[in-house]
Amino acid sequence: MTVKNEATPDLKSGKSAKTPDDYAKYFQPPSLKDAKKRGKEDIQVHYDFGIPEEMREIGKGKHYLIRTYGCQMNEHDTETIAGILEQMGYESTEEYQEADVILFNTCAIRENAEDKVFGELGHMKVLKRNNPNVILGVCGCMSQEESVVNKIMSKHAHVDLIFGTHNIHRLPVLLRDAMFQKEMVIEVWSKEGDIIENMPKVREDKTKAWVNIMYGCDKFCTYCIVPYTRGKERSRRPEDVIAEVRDLARQGFKEIMLLGQNVNAYGKDFEDIQYGFGHLLDEIRLIDIPRIRFTTSHPRDFDDHLIEVLAKGGNLVEQIHLPFQSGSTEVLKKMARKYTREHYLELVRKIKAAIPNATLSTDIIVGFPGETEEQFEDTLSLVSEVGFDSAYTFMYSPREGTPAAVMEDSVPEEVKKSRLHRLMEVQQKSSLVKNLAMLGQTVELLVEGESKNNPEVLSGRTRGGKLVHFNGDKSLIGTFVDVTITDAKTFTLYGEIVAKVEV
Ligand code: SAH
Ligand code: SF4
Ligand code: F3S
Repeated sequence: MTVKNEATPDLKSGKSAKTPDDYAKYFQPPSLKDAKKRGKEDIQVHYDFGIPEEMREIGKGKHYLIRTYGCQMNEHDTETIAGILEQMGYESTEEYQEADVILFNTCAIRENAEDKVFGELGHMKVLKRNNPNVILGVCGCMSQEESVVNKIMSKHAHVDLIFGTHNIHRLPVLLRDAMFQKEMVIEVWSKEGDIIENMPKVREDKTKAWVNIMYGCDKFCTYCIVPYTRGKERSRRPEDVIAEVRDLARQGFKEIMLLGQNVNAYGKDFEDIQYGFGHLLDEIRLIDIPRIRFTTSHPRDFDDHLIEVLAKGGNLVEQIHLPFQSGSTEVLKKMARKYTREHYLELVRKIKAAIPNATLSTDIIVGFPGETEEQFEDTLSLVSEVGFDSAYTFMYSPREGTPAAVMEDSVPEEVKKSRLHRLMEVQQKSSLVKNLAMLGQTVELLVEGESKNNPEVLSGRTRGGKLVHFNGDKSLIGTFVDVTITDAKTFTLYGEIVAKVEV
């Protein structure tokens, strides 16, 4: 897509496609090739986001519904999209029949994520036929893919609006165009835009809040689509992150999850200051908020300074999600992860030494192109050696446009499936061992709400992020309690309340 870096025009004016140039922008598909380019120009930060005057009432008396797929970054984007829609007067609904705007915030990480969205889009045909005025939109990572946009244009012509991950701030203008234009409105900038501060947010949870510290990813692991769908790494200014955390603390939030695809690369793009993720955490830990987590860490940039800061504890809770992807150095090389098995194990050793009660979790891919039985066994042995509390395990899924998608792959599907099962078995044993070790311990929980399976029971999380069920009064939701662990299963713990904690 031949689009300049133009993420910022019309923030206030609400101008949209009026000139032929503008229209060209609307109907050009995105390009993964262009998205791969990393420009040298500085990223500007804009603080003047606002809903154009004439659009502030446009949603009055109307409803929106957003379906979210994918990672926490996407869920947080949904909160921003909801914030923008509510500033336009829309109210949220869970009923498709009641909705005037339906948005699918999509994920492109694996093929099955995409299949789910296409299935749902198909179901929307009938709804659109019965209610032609409803605006149906697709956003998120899938909309950054040329093949997806083409497929929607040819097979899902009932979609009214497609906008990309870099175009969220343009939603008011795009929505208005979708209402008054007969053609499908498409605005997907392949190239990332600037950083837009001060966008409104409707936070789903009243005790836990997500805070972006950076956007994009420059790692280009060979299997991964994210660097193409999210653009280059851009860090938010420390003062903006800190101000947001302070504000959330003031509002009474109990826990902050700092978000980035690779939080350890935070600050590497600053030209004026030497300031990394360790520095940021060292400042945030002084804010009066009980718990601070972060995700995701890349093993390569996880430096000693960061470990030193994390070891200070306090509100920096001892949970570390550290994806290793493969236990074989050869496979890691083909994945372009830029570390070895030994480097990873050494990092884990350092973390365990500095933070002895750290909860460790990871992401693992099996069946990477050409993965041999021996290489897979290296993954199994790494899992046993580290003893993770939990792991997200995935079967490799080729993503169009990424280098791994064209690598030779002779590993049959059944072999990949059986490896996934073997891996899950080993990991589940490790999870159970870790949980059993907690029997009899008294731990602090932040009470999240009723248990998903049994509304009579409450659920909360430990500092390490483990889920614990216990009997207690609903008034405890959103507070801290101490519980003693009385039973341990592979995925959950059960406890008995000891005391309410004043924080
Ligand atoms: N930025 C994070 C990962 C985000 S994607 C990180 O690097 O840690 C979450 C996980 O999805 C990855 O860690 C990886 O295990 C998995 N994943 C990414 N691309 C995949 C693909 N093409 N097939 C299968 N799993 C994939
Ligand atoms: Fe994908 Fe690798 Fe970036 Fe994670 S670090 S988002 S796996 S490219
Ligand atoms: Fe999916 Fe995009 Fe997140 S591809 S995992 S929603 S960054």
